[in-house]
Amino acid sequence: MNWSKDSRLGLSDIYRVREPGDRAMLRTPRHDNLNRVVILNPKGGCGKSTLVTNIAACYTVRGATPAIMDFDPQGSATAWLGRRPGDRPEIHGIAAFKRSMQATRSWQLRVPEETDTLLVDSAAGISHDELRELTRDSSSILVPVLPSMMDTHAASRIIADLLLVAKVNRNEQKLAVIANRTRKNTKSLAKLMRFLDSLGIPIIAVLRDSQNFVYAAEEGIGVHEMQPSRVRQDVEQIDRIVTWLEGWQQRRQRGLELTGMRRNVLSAAASAR
Ligand SMILES: Nc1ncnc2c1ncn2[C@@H]1O[C@H](COP(=O)(O)OP(=O)(O)OP(=O)(O)O)[C@@H](O)[C@H]1O
Ligand SMILES: [Mg+2]
Repeated sequence: MNWSKDSRLGLSDIYRVREPGDRAMLRTPRHDNLNRVVILNPKGGCGKSTLVTNIAACYTVRGATPAIMDFDPQGSATAWLGRRPGDRPEIHGIAAFKRSMQATRSWQLRVPEETDTLLVDSAAGISHDELRELTRDSSSILVPVLPSMMDTHAASRIIADLLLVAKVNRNEQKLAVIANRTRKNTKSLAKLMRFLDSLGIPIIAVLRDSQNFVYAAEEGIGVHEMQPSRVRQDVEQIDRIVTWLEGWQQRRQRGLELTGMRRNVLSAAASAR
């Protein structure tokens, strides 16, 4: 099967392929080296766009080539790209929330070939179908959570949906949580940590409530592009996220091995019966 050059890399890009006998099939292309990171939580205002923009800026500082795919009709990440100063590395943006009349969907969602990390910003209040579609080809899923009681409840729902509705395989270790806008030693943060621990889902970073993120958002930059002495703690946490993301291929490999081992154990147990 030949995928045309421009249509190879759309995230939820689905191709209608004419099969012999004129049977239409839906197929997704494979692109093995693109780290596709989906940032989601249907709860509004938990920090999805803040994460997307700061992770993207961190990647550019590391010399990588990220792109942002924005599914949020508010277009916050797209607007951030528009505010980006001319002297900062350019980041490719795909305004996936816009429906173009002039271009096909696959053309609109195409990702430049040199992209190594695709950061997908999602909208608040997504449906189960959208959740499945967004996560289907993802290599990493990040869920930012605010440490309040209501947000912790909402987080437990979205994690349940990811596992049961979107069928994210825990063995693949592609799901992680980020506690956002935290203040030290709050009861709700400890509770959130215990809850996630019980599910075996890692909290890979804890971002403090800091005006640095607000400033960076306004200026079209990330905390990695600000004066280091001012943002040391924030940069450290974003670095932890990016380091975790960079391990996606090893995590996937380990996950496949674990799934294989589990299958072997189950079939050995079945044949011993
Ligand atoms: N760690 C933080 N410290 C201070 N302010 C923050 C932090 N994270 C996010 N914010 C602020 O909180 C607000 C909501 O953040 P953001 O827009 O990233 O959330 P979102 O999940 O993308 O929201 P939506 O669901 O509406 O798309 C923004 O004003 C942002 O600047
Ligand atoms: Mg947003």
